[in-house]
Amino acid sequence: MGFSCFFVLFFLSISFHPIHGTPDLIQKTCKNTKYYDLCISSLKSDPTSPKTDTKGLAVIMVKVGISNANATNSYLSTQRLTSTNDTLMKKVMKECAEKYGFASDSLQNSVQDLGSELYDYAYMHVMAAADYPNACKNAFKRFSGLVYPPEIAVREEGLKHICDVVSSIIENLSAMI
Ligand SMILES: *[C@@H]1O[C@H](CO)[C@@H](O)[C@H](O)[C@H]1NC(C)=O
Ligand SMILES: *[C@@H]1O[C@H](CO)[C@@H](O)[C@H](O)[C@H]1NC(C)=O
Ligand SMILES: *[C@@H]1O[C@H](CO)[C@@H](O)[C@H](O)[C@H]1NC(C)=O
Repeated sequence: MGFSCFFVLFFLSISFHPIHGTPDLIQKTCKNTKYYDLCISSLKSDPTSPKTDTKGLAVIMVKVGISNANATNSYLSTQRLTSTNDTLMKKVMKECAEKYGFASDSLQNSVQDLGSELYDYAYMHVMAAADYPNACKNAFKRFSGLVYPPEIAVREEGLKHICDVVSSIIENLSAMI
C-alpha cells in the first residue's frame, strides 16, 4: 500500500510540475514590454495563459489584438451607418473600417507565423497591423473639413500599444532560438 501511495504521489508531482508557464513567466515576459499593466491584464484575460510557454503568450496577446481591431472595425461600420449625414465622413469611416479589418487580417497571419515559428514574419505582420491605424488617421487628414474623432484616436492608441507589447514578446522569442 505504501508502495502504490508512493506512485500516486510520484505521478501527481509530475503532473503538477510546471513545465512551461507560471504567473512568474507572465510577469517576466511583461516586464520586458513597454506596457506592463496592459500586458498583464491582457494575458490574464485568457485562462490558458498560466499553462503556456512564451510563444503561447505571444499568441494570446495577438488574439487580444485581433479582438481589439475587430471591435474598432465594427464600431466604425456602425458609426458610418448611424451617426452622420455627411457623405465625406461616411466615406472616410468606411475606409477606416477597412484599415482596421486589414490590421485584424495581418494579426491573423501573425498567429499562423508564430505557429510555424517564423518569428521574423510574425514580427513583420504585427508591425503592419500597428501601421494600419495611421492609414485611417491620414484618411481624415486628407480633408481639411474633417476632424479626426477623439474616440478613434483612443482606439488607435489601444491597438498600437497591444502591437508594441506583442512585438517585444516576439523579439524575445527570436532571440531565444
Ligand atoms: C527576454 O529577454 C531578456 C533579455 O535577454 C531576458 O532577461 C528575459 O528573461 C527574457 N524574457 C523571457 C520571458 O524570456
Ligand atoms: C475578427 O474578424 C475576422 C474577420 O471578420 C473574423 O474572421 C474573426 O473570427 C474575428 N475574430 C475575433 C477574435 O473577433
Ligand atoms: C440628411 O440630409 C438630408 C438632405 O440634406 C435631409 O433631408 C435629412 O433630413 C438629413 N437627415 C438627418 C438624419 O439629418
